[in-house]
Amino acid sequence: MSEEFNADNLIVSWVKELSPYVPGEQPQSQGWVKLNTNENPYPASPNIAKVLQEQVEALRLYPEPTSLELRKAIAKQFDLSAEQVIIGNGSDNILDMITRSFVGLGQAGHTVPSYSLYPVVVAMSGGDLLNIPFEEAMELPVEAIAKTPASVFFLTNPNAPTGVCFSLESIEAVLKKIKGILVVDEAYIDFGGQSASALLQSHNNLIVVQTFSKSYSLAGLRVGYAMASSKIIQVLDSVRDAYNVDRLAQAIAQVALEDRAHFQANCEKIIQTRNQSQAYFQSLDWFTYPSSANFLFTQPKNAQGESGPEVAASLFEYLKSKKILVRYFGSHPLTCSFLRVSIGTDNQMKTFNEGIESWLKQEQQN
Ligand SMILES: Cc1ncc(COP(=O)(O)O)c(C=O)c1O
Repeated sequence: MSEEFNADNLIVSWVKELSPYVPGEQPQSQGWVKLNTNENPYPASPNIAKVLQEQVEALRLYPEPTSLELRKAIAKQFDLSAEQVIIGNGSDNILDMITRSFVGLGQAGHTVPSYSLYPVVVAMSGGDLLNIPFEEAMELPVEAIAKTPASVFFLTNPNAPTGVCFSLESIEAVLKKIKGILVVDEAYIDFGGQSASALLQSHNNLIVVQTFSKSYSLAGLRVGYAMASSKIIQVLDSVRDAYNVDRLAQAIAQVALEDRAHFQANCEKIIQTRNQSQAYFQSLDWFTYPSSANFLFTQPKNAQGESGPEVAASLFEYLKSKKILVRYFGSHPLTCSFLRVSIGTDNQMKTFNEGIESWLKQEQQN
């Protein structure tokens, strides 16, 4: 071993300063009610089992590099051409391709709070990230976004972690004014809100990103996609890893996409449970943002009717001690007195509600 060699001296300066993405906890033990990472509580299309079996023999062969059949299927769904679609190893992979292609050492922007991966992909490429803050009302700051000099602006719609969705009109207003590319990250769009994909034909500075992770119950498969002008897709394709989506993932995602009845029933069930949970929070007099996603962002009150960071953190810890996991974002003033709760099955939500009730009782005794 060379004595002089020290890998630290070789690390690219911006990688040295990088704070890596911190995913929500994935407990490995059994018995958790897991409402912390916005996964779908229901299984994906039952048609997957057959295609999985068929693909096993073919695994010795490389996959089709550009995921052509899946791109065609998505294009058909959105009335686009396959040249307007690119597939990623999860939409996180797409966000990284966008940053590598159009940000590099330059500037990107995002609204705060939103998806915490944007700062990481921008930092990984050595770029700067401009923060456009939301006000408490969580309305889209159209003018502030339009004024940014960023070459790429990331907008999550419906937003995370609030679940609030923005109108197509407000998104179009941004598109008309912004100088760079607007990326509308629609990871949760199937649970409410209108997709900006309707604006693709009229705006060539738009990239719409969607995923199979949430509404198709396929977070473990890692398939996401972007839709944009063929020109933009061509650029993204030039930085795509050669075989970025494996053979099983391509085939399974296509089958899931084509099972419209399963998809629709799944989304409807989540929306119904979300509405029940929203009503439950309302019955407790907890402020909750109106959600168009598969989660709710709610401000808990203790038995004395108080809210705040201590109250939210106390409920988070209490639920965790009962093996109920939700998400707490303690580091931002607009999020620190809230909890984000992914929508589970009715049974999981019942256990969650019981957890709240026993926390309130315990609080009352203290
Ligand atoms: C807003 C947003 N975008 C993208 C993703 C990543 O999705 P994928 O699983 O497709 O990488 C998530 C995951 O939670 C998300 O919340």
